[in-house]
Amino acid sequence: MKAFKRIAAAILAITMIFALAACGQKSEPAPQQGDQGSQQTQQPAADSGKKDLIYVGFVQVGAESDWRMANTKSMQETFTEANGFKFEMVDAQQKTENQIKAIRDFIQKEVDYIVLAPNTEAGWDTVLGEAKEAGIPVIIVDRMIQTNDDSLFTAWVGSNFKQEGYDAVDALAEALRRKGIDPTKEEINIVTLQGTMGSSAQIGRTEGFAEKMKEYPNWKMLDKQSGDFTQEKGQEVMESFLKSYPDIDAVVAENDNMAFGAINAIKAAGKTCGPKGEITIVSFDAVKAAFEAMIAGDLDVSVECNPLHGPRVKEIIEKLEAGQPVDKIAYVKEGVFFAAEAAEIMPTRAY
Ligand code: AHR
Repeated sequence: MKAFKRIAAAILAITMIFALAACGQKSEPAPQQGDQGSQQTQQPAADSGKKDLIYVGFVQVGAESDWRMANTKSMQETFTEANGFKFEMVDAQQKTENQIKAIRDFIQKEVDYIVLAPNTEAGWDTVLGEAKEAGIPVIIVDRMIQTNDDSLFTAWVGSNFKQEGYDAVDALAEALRRKGIDPTKEEINIVTLQGTMGSSAQIGRTEGFAEKMKEYPNWKMLDKQSGDFTQEKGQEVMESFLKSYPDIDAVVAENDNMAFGAINAIKAAGKTCGPKGEITIVSFDAVKAAFEAMIAGDLDVSVECNPLHGPRVKEIIEKLEAGQPVDKIAYVKEGVFFAAEAAEIMPTRAY
């Protein structure tokens, strides 16, 4: 972090002057390793004549979904040289161990900030402890980590995935109503295509849906299985669900891409889906392709998950550089979009 380096240099210089002058006054203590996000006074850059770029190392989950691509684009378009950043991204190919390795590489490279989009929640304490030791602030985006030590990260910004799960229950009830089905009376057989097991997006959406679904004792969860947030695996899982369960009324796809796979499987099985079809589909993300699927009459509703974190992370870094406090936890506001409104809303969508 440039601010720490500048502060350390300034303090060292002041200490030396005071020592030489033997004036007996004490200098301020040097910043401690891992003293992340604390209030610091910004010192002017060393007399280099040009402003240093802030070096950001971004540890991305992968490229598994339209959401993820939009998230990567948001980061790449934000952390440009023109905006004052040197930006490096690692695509971890949906493997947590690749992310841990990427963090260690960024520590070696002495980046100023590590931005982590964790694949799964568990197992971060050791490597984030190493980043803390190195004095590199870690900003977490999108999904969260499990830890008992919140000094391991400086700030987190992302979605309230459990709330999204609650919203999906309301969305399914409303989508059924719009089809003339009373969600409180008729038996509704549901299957869920889960995201990457152990990821916050999967945990929150699965738990939120299960909890709120209790309001409808007539709803039955037939099965849940992971499609790892990809269209291909979502389609495979849906194909096997269709073989095992001839009476599926609703599909909860924990992201839009798995819903696209489910739509393919449903059509290939000779069944129909969407607002006028036999099977109601609720998904998460609300990417542009989901609006297209809603307009085409294949998808009933999508619960938004906003991927545009680039500007949000930039604001956090700028505040830290200026020695200002940042919110430790910041949730993004999100909506729910139904097929009937999709055509009108789609032109206003940014991703
Ligand atoms: O963590 C956000 C989730 O990850 C999105 O819902 C999904 O599409 C992505 O892969």
